[in-house]
Amino acid sequence: MLSPATNMPPQDLPDRATEALLSRPWTHLLDRALDKARTVPTMLSGQEQQLYYWLTAFWAEGAGAIVDLGCFAGGSTARLAQGLAVAGLDSRVAAFDRFTAGEDVKHSVLYRQGVAPFDGADILPLAKDLLAPWSEWIDLHRGEIDQLGWAGGPIEILVMDASKAACTMDRMSETFLPHLVPGRSLVVQQDFLHWSQPWVPAQMELLSEYFTPLVHVPRDTMVFLCHGSPPADSLALARSDDLSDSDLLGLLAAAKLRYTPWGLADRLQETIDGLRNNPGLRRAHQFQRR
Ligand SMILES: C[S@@+](CC[C@H](N)C(=O)[O-])C[C@H]1O[C@@H](n2cnc3c(N)ncnc32)[C@H](O)[C@@H]1O
Repeated sequence: MLSPATNMPPQDLPDRATEALLSRPWTHLLDRALDKARTVPTMLSGQEQQLYYWLTAFWAEGAGAIVDLGCFAGGSTARLAQGLAVAGLDSRVAAFDRFTAGEDVKHSVLYRQGVAPFDGADILPLAKDLLAPWSEWIDLHRGEIDQLGWAGGPIEILVMDASKAACTMDRMSETFLPHLVPGRSLVVQQDFLHWSQPWVPAQMELLSEYFTPLVHVPRDTMVFLCHGSPPADSLALARSDDLSDSDLLGLLAAAKLRYTPWGLADRLQETIDGLRNNPGLRRAHQFQRR
């Protein structure tokens, strides 16, 4: 099969496609390229939506599953699945979530994006309905992600958008990162630059031996290439929930230095300030702007 991105045979794809990624080709996509995936409500920014679609439509080569940690009502999952459909790949999207939404999120995200008001917090029926056009590419996994395992084999793209607590992220990392394919797999850290989740850039500093940052996608996303599979002892040492504030601040200072040439020093300073203003907290929803 030829890649729609390059018309190159698969053996030539990894380097060329990863190089292609650095020039942010998704920013040139017309909105209509995403077709009906555009209609599924999402919390992603416009560029993030384009990235997700582009990754599966043009970058993936079928080296493993696409895993979406934090599917919500299906927005990210739809964009990933639409890309797979266009590329004609056999891969599937494994989408994980607890599939519940409180009234505030129902109003601010779902109703605002066209979903008719409904009772209750269960959004699994809604997600199933919205994702019906791509059901042959998607497996939905309901539950607390930190208590679910992974037996789906190699992972080509791992999207992490449920790292809302340090302990959850640690557990997700231990479960999913060992299944990445060195030299091929990408990790999409959706909350990398979110001021209320300092444990995300801190853990990527601790795992920098295994992951190379490739590209920042506004608002908050950083895409990493996995170049080595982190062993269990490295993952244990990279647990962020065990770190003190001063350990985290040291790692954030290192991240700020690393990403200053990327123009991201101010964003990481916001994260540093976020932690300084919310000492000891390890859950994003507890953080307050001061
Ligand atoms: C920012 S939202 C994801 C947005 C989604 N990717 C989109 O395109 O709209 C984060 C999601 O992670 C889920 N989540 C967070 N922690 C979780 C956990 N421990 N187990 C299961 N789901 C979790 C939430 O239910 C929420 O739907």
